[in-house]
Formats: sequence, structure tokens, C-alpha cells
Amino acid sequence: MSKGDGTVTLAESGTKNAVELPVMSGTVGPRVIDIQKLYGDMGVFTYDPGFAATASCQSRITYIDGEEGVLLHRGYPIEQLAEESDFTEVSYLLLNGELPTAAEKMQFQNDVARHTMVHEQLTTFYRGFRRDAHPMAVMVGVVGALSAFYHDSTDINDPHQRTVASFRMIAKMPTIAAMAYKYSLGQPFIYPQNHLNYAENFLNMMFSVPCEPYRINPVLAKAMDRIFILHADHEQNASTSTVRLAGSSGANPFACIAAGIACLWGPAHGGANEAVLKMLEEIGTVDRVPEYIKRAKDKNDPFRLMGFGHRVYKNYDPRAKVMQRTCHEVLDDLGLHDEPLLKLAMKLERIALEDEYFIEKKLYPNVDFYSGIILRAMGFPSSMFTVLFAVARTVGWIAQWNEMIADPQQRIGRPRQLYLGPTRRDYVPIGTRG
Ligand code: CMC
Repeated sequence: MSKGDGTVTLAESGTKNAVELPVMSGTVGPRVIDIQKLYGDMGVFTYDPGFAATASCQSRITYIDGEEGVLLHRGYPIEQLAEESDFTEVSYLLLNGELPTAAEKMQFQNDVARHTMVHEQLTTFYRGFRRDAHPMAVMVGVVGALSAFYHDSTDINDPHQRTVASFRMIAKMPTIAAMAYKYSLGQPFIYPQNHLNYAENFLNMMFSVPCEPYRINPVLAKAMDRIFILHADHEQNASTSTVRLAGSSGANPFACIAAGIACLWGPAHGGANEAVLKMLEEIGTVDRVPEYIKRAKDKNDPFRLMGFGHRVYKNYDPRAKVMQRTCHEVLDDLGLHDEPLLKLAMKLERIALEDEYFIEKKLYPNVDFYSGIILRAMGFPSSMFTVLFAVARTVGWIAQWNEMIADPQQRIGRPRQLYLGPTRRDYVPIGTRG
């Protein structure tokens, strides 16, 4: 392949088969080769398992420079948003492209707050689940069922319905998540309180009970808000790509978000924060860290250091640094600075960062490394960790889904394959099969 001026020429050696392909530049980041005409002109597909070198869409929402450890939402660095902004503003930013004015923020807050309750009949839906069901299983089911409750916002060709569906999803996710938790405990569901902000309202629905007052700890509410900001969007990750792919067929937004939740559940993605905590508990004491580092490096052992490594970041995940700071703030406030799991995590991080294997493979702590410790200290059971990720990521999914629907180039997502199975053969009746 040779580079021309704004094009590359792809030529098959030993033949006259060649094609000139346009090169496209974004505002920042690597250029991309537009291969849409490749099959038509040359009769070949590209092969890219895991889409590691494939730009699946154009987007104006989030930019990541994995080599430098940079994450920007609509151009704003994640560190600045996490320190100076709040989740409502970041949600508005992701959805609309600009930070809101004070009036716009108030309006947006009110628009979302109007939708925080769920259809009362949805509460009976929960009762169909076993009490010991994993809350992510409940989330997939209940969010998928929203399209059965809100028919009036499932027409994706109507911009008003799309807006209403967006507000509904962002508003109802904390309510649905907290209900999943309350159901597992056998406690009554707590209705949303619209005078509270997004994070406070969620904590209240999670931890208050009708029989006594619940005081929202401002340090924990701030930490919750920051955790939501840090997870709000992450460009074309697995669950976002799932939402886009599901949406590309014209499926309604509730069904698309349910698909995203299902994808997020996996331990290589959103399930990692739960897996980190399980791993730290399994390691147990600082003196066993070297044994687990050794296992993580052993090719014949499936064990991986959870919370380490990232498909895109080959540097410290910028979200992990904010998360580490937040972790110390929360544990200090709760008087848990001597928490053994935190000490263990810090030791593990230090040893891994100095280890040749991790240095060579550029494996750094990711956003999930510290989040589990914070969430556990705040009182969340580990089965709820990925649910919190889903609550926060909903706005990112919605922003990306809206962008896709509005994109004139949008087509149904339909990858091709390199077929390695049998070629055509004739059916053999069962009695004559050897
Ligand atoms: N521990 C030990 N070795 C690792 C790890 C790890 N956590 N992560 C990657 N490697 C090794 C891997 O064995 C491979 O080695 P080799 O080249 O010798 O075969 C090399 O590093 C590259 O790994 P990969 O699996 O090809 O990389 P990937 O981009 O496909 O996977 C990942 C990225 C995040 C799935 C992976 O690093 C991983 O499984 N990490 C642990 C799970 C985790 O923390 N996930 C959360 C990601 S951040 C939040 C989110 O996206 O939801």
C-alpha cells in the first residue's frame, strides 16, 4: 500500500488488481482510509478481528489518545470535567455538544426530573425475578421492557419522540437500578426525589428506608457524581458499538440500551470493577501479590490482573488517576484509610507498574481498578458495581445513538467474514452416514 496525496493505492502483488482509496482526516487523531469501494472495485474484504484498526463511524462526541492517556468529551479534558463540572452538565454536553448556560442547565435538569418515576406497573415486573438474580440480569430485562411501557417514544423517525426517549432513559436508569437492589433485599422501592441532584437522588433511592431519615453524605454524593462523570462516555467501546449496531437496524432506543447493558456486563468490559474486587479478596494479603503477578504473566494460566490493561490506553487511563484520588477522599471521610483492600490495591499497582511484563505490554491501571474499592466503602454490594457503570454510561449510549440516527451516512451495520468452513457438499440421509 502506498500513500498518495489524500489517497492510498492498494495493489495486489503479481496482478493488475489495484484500487485508489481516499484518506480522510478528523480534527485530531489518526487519519482513516475509506474502504467503502474496496469490495466493489477489488473484490476483497478487510480482516480486523475485534475492530482494533477500524473506524466504524464518524463522531463528534468523545476523543481518546490512548498513547498519551487523553480523554476529551466534546473537546473538554475529563480531568477538568471531573474536578469542575457535574454529571448534569456533562450529560448536557455529551448530548448537545456545548456546556449549558445556567438557564439551559436548569431547563435540562427539570426536563430529566419530570421522567424519574417509572410506570407503576413496572414494579410488578420485578416480582417475576428471583430475589437472588444478578442485578445486571434484572437491568437487561427491565430496560428492554421499557419499550412495552412507553410506546409513545419508540418512533425513531420522530425527533420529539427521540428526545422524550432520551430524557426517559437518563431519568429512569437510577430508579430502575435502585429498584433492582431493593428487590434483592426485600425492601420497599423508594420513589425518586426531584429536589435532589442526580447522584443524591440515586443514593437516596439505594440506601434510604421508609422507617427512618436518611442523611446524604455530601462527600459520598460528590464521589458518586464524579464516578458517573468518569463513566459517562468512552467513544466506540464494545457496549456503545453494540448500541449503535442494534440501533442501525431501526430498533427502538429502549431495546438498543438493553443490548448495550448486556454487552457491558462482561468481565472484559463493565464487569471488570466487580472482578477487581473479587480478585483483591482472593489475593487477600500483601505477601501474596507476587504470586498473582506471576500468574498474570503465565501464558498457560487464564488469570489476568483485573483493572489492568485497555484496548485503547497504552498509558495511564486518565480516569484511573481521578478515581484513585476520589478513593482516598472517600476512605478518609469514612475513616477507612487503613482499609486493607486499598493497601493491597496500592501494593499491586506499584509492583505491576515496575514489572517488565506490564511495562513492555503497556498495561496500566484502568478506570475500574479503584472504583470497586470506593463503591464498596460507600455501601454498594459488588454485584451492583456494573449496574452503576450502566447508569452512568446511559447518557453516552444515548448521545451516540442520537448521533447515529441523525447521520445521513447511517446504514444497517453488517460486517463481513473470512469463511473457513466446508465448501458446498450434498446432504447425506441419516441411514447412510458413516
Ligand atoms: N493481565 C495480564 N496480562 C494482560 C492483561 C492483564 N490484565 N491485559 C492484557 N494482557 C496481555 C495479554 O495476555 C496479551 O499478551 P500477549 O500479547 O503476550 O498475548 C497482551 O497483554 C494484549 O492483550 P489483549 O487481550 O490482546 O488486549 P485487548 O486490547 O484485546 O484487551 C482488555 C484489553 C481490557 C480486555 C484486557 O487488557 C483485559 O482483559 N484486562 C482486564 C479486564 C479489565 O480490567 N477490563 C476493563 C477495561 S476498562 C473499562 C471498560 O472498558 O469497560
